[in-house]
Amino acid sequence: MNSRLLASVFGLAALSVVSTMAVAQEDPIKAREELMEEIGDQMKILGPMAQGKADYDAAKAAAALEKISANAADFPNHFPEGSDQGKTEALPAIWENKADFEAKSKQLSDDAKAAVTAAAGGLEAFKPAFGQMASNCKSCHEKYRKPS
Ligand code: HEC
Repeated sequence: MNSRLLASVFGLAALSVVSTMAVAQEDPIKAREELMEEIGDQMKILGPMAQGKADYDAAKAAAALEKISANAADFPNHFPEGSDQGKTEALPAIWENKADFEAKSKQLSDDAKAAVTAAAGGLEAFKPAFGQMASNCKSCHEKYRKPS
């Protein structure tokens, strides 16, 4: 490989790193939607267990709840100014009530963590903790997410 070719290969590699960073910064909508979708996926594991439609598995429940807790904690980090525009269901109320929106995200994260502890105590302990955690979805969506 001659040095010019080498230089251009390095140049391209550097360019692609820069453009990857730009995408990560430019697409907060995709990032936050993915966090929510993953939360939705965990609910498909937890819901049937809570309803007795799937066998209760404490380890599986705890893992799903940990994921919800982590995603909920990260969620409010993806709402930069201006990202109310575009293909998003996020309502402008989020940016007008940032502190409340962050508190609601934290509440879900904390309730999911509490449910992790409860899950170790068996199905009867898991059920009410799951219900408490799940009540956060509606209370945030009805205020901050466009009805679909
Ligand atoms: C702190 C507020 C808040 C809480 C709590 C919350 N959500 Fe959301 N959720 C949102 C917002 C805002 C959107 C829209 C994001 C967007 O389109 O930019 C959303 C979108 C979604 C989506 C659609 C994602 C997509 O691909 O467009 C799903 C699924 C979802 N939420 C599930 C849940 C579930 C299940 C819970 C409870 C375990 C929950 N959410 C709790 C605020 C919240």
